[in-house]
Amino acid sequence: MQDGPIGVFDSGLGGLTVLQALADLLPHEDLVYFGDTARYPYGDRSAAELRAFSGQIADLLVDAGAKMLVVACNSATAAALDLLRERLDVPVVGVVEPGLRAAASASRSRRTVVIGTRMTAASRVYERTAARLDLHLDVEVLACPGFVELVEEGRTDTPEAVQVVRDRLAPLLTARTDTLVLGCTHYPLLSRAIGEVVGRHVTLVSSADETAFEVRDLLERMGWLTRRIRPGERVFLTSGMPDRFAELGERFLGFALGDVRGHAWDGATVDDRDALTA
Ligand code: DGL
Repeated sequence: MQDGPIGVFDSGLGGLTVLQALADLLPHEDLVYFGDTARYPYGDRSAAELRAFSGQIADLLVDAGAKMLVVACNSATAAALDLLRERLDVPVVGVVEPGLRAAASASRSRRTVVIGTRMTAASRVYERTAARLDLHLDVEVLACPGFVELVEEGRTDTPEAVQVVRDRLAPLLTARTDTLVLGCTHYPLLSRAIGEVVGRHVTLVSSADETAFEVRDLLERMGWLTRRIRPGERVFLTSGMPDRFAELGERFLGFALGDVRGHAWDGATVDDRDALTA
C-alpha cells in the first residue's frame, strides 16, 4: 500500500491549496489530483449530486491505486465524507475538522466566522463538527456566493474581487471575531482581497496545512508513508480544459503543474486508468 499515490479532489482549482500543503509536507509521496471543473461550482449543487460526483471521482482515484483519499472541498466533505468512508476501503480525510481545529488553536476570543459556499453553510457541517469536537468555539457560518467564480475565472487580483469580498464580508465582522476560517478551498487563493477587507486583527485560517498534518499522521500510524526518497510525482486531471487548468494552476501555485490531463465524464476522450497510470 505504501507506494500508491494520495488521491485529492475538488470541484476545480481550489483543492490545489491542499495539494500544495501536501506536497510541502510529504515531498516524496505521489499525488493524483482531480479538479471537476466541468461541474463546478459544487457550492450550488444539491447534497445528492455531490454524493454522486464524489463517489464517481473516488472510484476513479481508487482504481488508479490511491492509498488514501483527501476530499479537498468543503462542499463535498459536507455532503459525502461519511458516505465515502463507509463505502471505500482506503482512509478518507476531509477538510472541515482540520480547519476548525486550526481556528480553535488560533482564536483567543473564541468567536470565529467561517465563510463557505451555499452548500457548506446550509449543511451546518461546521456548527455540528465544532459541537462534536467540543472546541468551545462560537461558530458563525456565512455563505459567499460569487467568490469561487472569481478564482475559477482568474479574476482574483482585480478591484472587482475586493469589491465582491467587501460587499459580502464587511457587515459581518463584529469586534469579537478574531479568526476567519476559509471554509472553501478556493478562498485562500483570494486571501489578498479577503485580508484587505477584514483587516490585520483577524487571522485567516486555511484548512490546507492542518489537513496535510492529518494525512501525514494517519499514514504514519498505518505504516503507509512511502519509503521512496525520490521527489513525488504529480498528476493532474480535470474534467474541464487542461490548458486553462494548467495556466491558472501555475498562476496560483507559482510553479508549472506539468502533467495535466483531460477527463471527460462521458468517457469519450480519456480513459481513466490509462490517464492515471500511463
Ligand atoms: N472548493 C470547494 C469548497 O471547498 C467548492 C467550490 C465550488 O465549486 O463551489 O467548498
